[in-house]
Amino acid sequence: MSKIKIAPSLLAADFGNLQHDVEMVNNSDADWHHIDVMDGIFVPNISYGMPVVKAIAKHATKPLDVHLMIIDPDRYIQTFADLGASILSVHYEVCTHLHRSLQAIKSAGMKAGVALNPHTSVRLLKDTIQDIDVVCLMSVNPGFGGQSFIENTYNKVKELKELILRKGANTLIEIDGGVTAKNAKALTDSGADILVAGSFVFKSKNPAKTIKELKEIAG
Ligand code: DX5
Ligand code: ZN
Repeated sequence: MSKIKIAPSLLAADFGNLQHDVEMVNNSDADWHHIDVMDGIFVPNISYGMPVVKAIAKHATKPLDVHLMIIDPDRYIQTFADLGASILSVHYEVCTHLHRSLQAIKSAGMKAGVALNPHTSVRLLKDTIQDIDVVCLMSVNPGFGGQSFIENTYNKVKELKELILRKGANTLIEIDGGVTAKNAKALTDSGADILVAGSFVFKSKNPAKTIKELKEIAG
């Protein structure tokens, strides 16, 4: 069985029929539901907020992987724990006290994730890597689905993997943005553990089959 996790991003789902798409993920080979929350300030787009996450949680049977693209995420850590998030990722670029935010996420019973924008160096995690459960490497500029994969991500995955091994950390590496069947294998060969895929899954003819194929290719 594949060790690689697939996390379909519901940002590309049919919002008029979310239950249907959440259930498709439930019944597929996917591992996590990836949930993108945007505030229109940290990123230029607004996606959805707590009521929609609550509706997703009502139907979801797999762990909720919540990616906060918002400023001041500390304000909402407990809220997302109460909504049922299993993994909560905050952006490095908005955390003045990242170590404190990570502890707060864990104290609330969730796995702690840190997302890095394409321009943010993985070296900046040298002193926190042992406290991070998941690093989410953005392979597009956050804010929108359907963008093209940034090739420099491969270098970042390799560098991050080296850092994790050197520090003896158990951190998983997640890749978010522009993931397709074309880059999946190269990403996991470079050290990625989790692949987020939005458009590639939901815009395909048979999303459940696409998830299965992606997992096989990646694995
Ligand atoms: C982008 C989001 C991603 C997005 C990925 O800001 O964080 O999770 O939904 O979508 P695709 O796979 O279409 O690039
Ligand atoms: Zn995301």
